Amino acid sequence: MCGIVACRMDEAAGPFLIDALKLLEYRGYDSAGVAIRTVDGTMASSRTTNRVETLERQLDDWSGPALSGTGIGHTRWATHGAVTETNAHPHADCRQRVSIVHNGIIENADALRRQLEQTGHVFASEVDSEVVSHLIEEELLITGDLHSAVTAATLRLHGSWAIVALDAETGRMVAAAHRSPLLVAHSAKGVFAASDINAIAEFVDEFQAMSDGDVVELAEEFVWTRSGAHSAAPAYAASNWSGVTHGLAGHSDYMSKEIAEQPETAARIIDRLAPMIADGSLWAGLNLPPFERVAVLGCGTSLNAGRVIANAFGALGDVPNSSLIASEASSAIMDPRTLVIALSQSGETADVLRAIDDLDLGTSSLMALTNSEHSTLARRADSMLNCNAGPEIGVAATKTFVAQVITGVAMALSALAATRRIDRDYARRQTDDLRRIPDLLAHAIAASQKAIPPLIEEIRDAQGYLFLGRGAGVVYAAEGALKLKELSYRWAEHYPAGELKHGPLALVEAGTPVVVIDSGDRRIESNIAEVEARGGRVIRIGGAGSTIPALGLSLGTPMPGGIDRWGPLESVVPLQILARDLALALGRDVDKPRNLAKSVTVE
Ligand code: F6R
Repeated sequence: MCGIVACRMDEAAGPFLIDALKLLEYRGYDSAGVAIRTVDGTMASSRTTNRVETLERQLDDWSGPALSGTGIGHTRWATHGAVTETNAHPHADCRQRVSIVHNGIIENADALRRQLEQTGHVFASEVDSEVVSHLIEEELLITGDLHSAVTAATLRLHGSWAIVALDAETGRMVAAAHRSPLLVAHSAKGVFAASDINAIAEFVDEFQAMSDGDVVELAEEFVWTRSGAHSAAPAYAASNWSGVTHGLAGHSDYMSKEIAEQPETAARIIDRLAPMIADGSLWAGLNLPPFERVAVLGCGTSLNAGRVIANAFGALGDVPNSSLIASEASSAIMDPRTLVIALSQSGETADVLRAIDDLDLGTSSLMALTNSEHSTLARRADSMLNCNAGPEIGVAATKTFVAQVITGVAMALSALAATRRIDRDYARRQTDDLRRIPDLLAHAIAASQKAIPPLIEEIRDAQGYLFLGRGAGVVYAAEGALKLKELSYRWAEHYPAGELKHGPLALVEAGTPVVVIDSGDRRIESNIAEVEARGGRVIRIGGAGSTIPALGLSLGTPMPGGIDRWGPLESVVPLQILARDLALALGRDVDKPRNLAKSVTVE
């Protein structure tokens, strides 16, 4: 939710900030802006409610004093204040001396604004963040020192923040973080700060993650403080983005690329984890205590992945399990000895972080399953498992769902083997079964790419879509409805197929698209018949002979009691492709759906 970046380089800051903002745009794209120190010691600021390309053109047209190598940039997901240029970051103080970029929410902004206005400050925008620049201005008048001023200002804030403040007069830059992610790094290229390592990965090999309360002067040598006192700098972490290419590799959008990457991603993860499953070493390496039940916790697609993993614990090892919507989990009562698995691709989702803070864990333990090993979630959990999906740029989660499920199921099998709930031979057979997944995914991609395009014209004008499944298929129906909503902006709901006749069947009329995940439960036939009797357009995702014959049932004999008990994982592929193709037919931006952001760092 909002991306921030800062640099001090020998070369001009503008092109770097623009490139970094393009890479951070997934965090929000309501507006973008930069503030760059000029060689005259003034501030050059440019903002737009269009995309970063517009900002780039505005900077190209800059005709003021030459721009230096020191600047800050921001890409916004609006929370407080409308999407307007004046509400876009960076925000300056009254004297245009200090500019700030901020990610997070200042909860006491209204009270601070009133106090600041009483002492003569004039606000230019409606946003909560602007109080920060005026607070720093006020403190700077007292101490004359930017580092102290940022420290004093942040001590007056309630809420969450990742901030970089730039003083045009001195060229000093100070970063502060609390409950919002911020990384700092230097290299031969210069000094950098960013919300996400991907934005600066081309320039740095390692970085330091700021913790709650940290204030860091972005000087030649970083100066770390907390509450005004010097503090120890955190260890350096290696960037796992070095060498990662950001290109589309011939695809028209990142979503297409990331869908296509799923078989290879799955194969890589399974190859790495398979040797650690049956001997229990994957579980043992997590150093977590024994458990009697499992609870998964997350939001959106990560929660759906968690539900599949919970199903696997139940289906494969008879472990009682439950799932918690993170934003509603704070008051959940944990049974003793529960293994809580918090899933988050970004590891920065505020609802998840709040839930794990509020949960009374008692004798339970907390495992993070994330794609971001240095994230706040990874640092706060008792143990962390990286799902290693690699960078996912499209806002809609695709390959990270597959990576989370495979990693989580591998961990579940390893835990069940280690705790003797299943024997090693069974665990080995299950591991062999996991090895079929890359082929199943590849088959699903090929089948979907053939079957889905001819369907789109027929269903594109529908105003609502239903997704049905039974048993292990229900969670995939949920994921299909979520993908379709977020990408096409059309209503979509999911139901356990047997529940349809208890109410939602009233929604079905001639032509209503009803997507059915047919994972082999024979009872689904009567549910399909009920829809067809009302003229509904059934799109069956199943084996050979289905509308979309994408499921591995068509590849050969399914393993009894194998992945089909918690699967069918490959059914997510036609659901992703259906949502994408429909969205493209409706003229939507599939990589940046409206109103959304990839990393949701506000509650
Ligand atoms: C859906 C989607 C969101 C995220 C959710 C959680 O395609 O991307 O529903 O899954 O915002 O995000 P993370 O996994 O970063 O916690």
